[in-house]
Amino acid sequence: MSSMKQDTRPIAVMDSGVGGISVLREMVRIMPQEDFIFFGDSANAPYGTKTTEFVRDLVISHVDSYLERGAKAIAIACNTATAAALKDLRQMYPELPLVGIEPALKPAVEQHVGGRVLVMATPMTIREEKFNLLLSRFQDRAIIYPLACPGLMDYVEAGNFDSPQLYSFLEELLWDYRNGAVDAVVLGCTHYPFVRKAIAKVLGPEIEIYDGAEGTARELKRRMEVAGILCTDEKRKGVVTFENSNPTPEKMALSKHLLEITLES
Ligand code: DGL
Repeated sequence: MSSMKQDTRPIAVMDSGVGGISVLREMVRIMPQEDFIFFGDSANAPYGTKTTEFVRDLVISHVDSYLERGAKAIAIACNTATAAALKDLRQMYPELPLVGIEPALKPAVEQHVGGRVLVMATPMTIREEKFNLLLSRFQDRAIIYPLACPGLMDYVEAGNFDSPQLYSFLEELLWDYRNGAVDAVVLGCTHYPFVRKAIAKVLGPEIEIYDGAEGTARELKRRMEVAGILCTDEKRKGVVTFENSNPTPEKMALSKHLLEITLES
């Protein structure tokens, strides 16, 4: 009821760059009354080709600083950062409503039992234990091809979603998986939904494409509900603030633009 005290502290959502805005977007959609701070660590991007220890330490320090600034919940909107740091963060902050995104292998396999599923992600996500545990849970139900895609996130960071260079990069990267060679694709990096159309064009329109954004947003909402910190004032309109470790005018404009554009292919 309106007499109830509302928790309007912000939710901090973070990524190595602008990719996590594909997850932020789903969070804003299902929790429009909340305030969000989106942090892109563009100064240290890409994460996916660095060492796990380097990324884990960075992510932990970013989480610490947003908690000090009063964030009520944290979302790691980066598969790579989740693989590197989520386990440690859960141990450090057992009570905190905290979510991390991981490749949406479950829905892809469940809807394509016996099929061929391509998982596109960063080199770190593919080599880390978290993904390999996930893989072992589904490997007997589908043929799964993990594919490290170093360099793909850079196109998104540059605001390049539809150029001849992007298409030739994708054609080379996805060469073996074209012409009906796979049934489904999992976008296991939060940057990739922004080049979803280009990926679909290269692989063919019949391929189903999955990402974990919606599931992660729902999981965050659920955890916040359990913790009793969800803002329930339906009349309230939340504010999204963008922060970046390399806040050039281009990066800040791209961030706002990515929140607005539609992700549908
Ligand atoms: N957006 C990040 C992910 O979801 C990774 C991009 C990068 O920094 O390499 O995995």
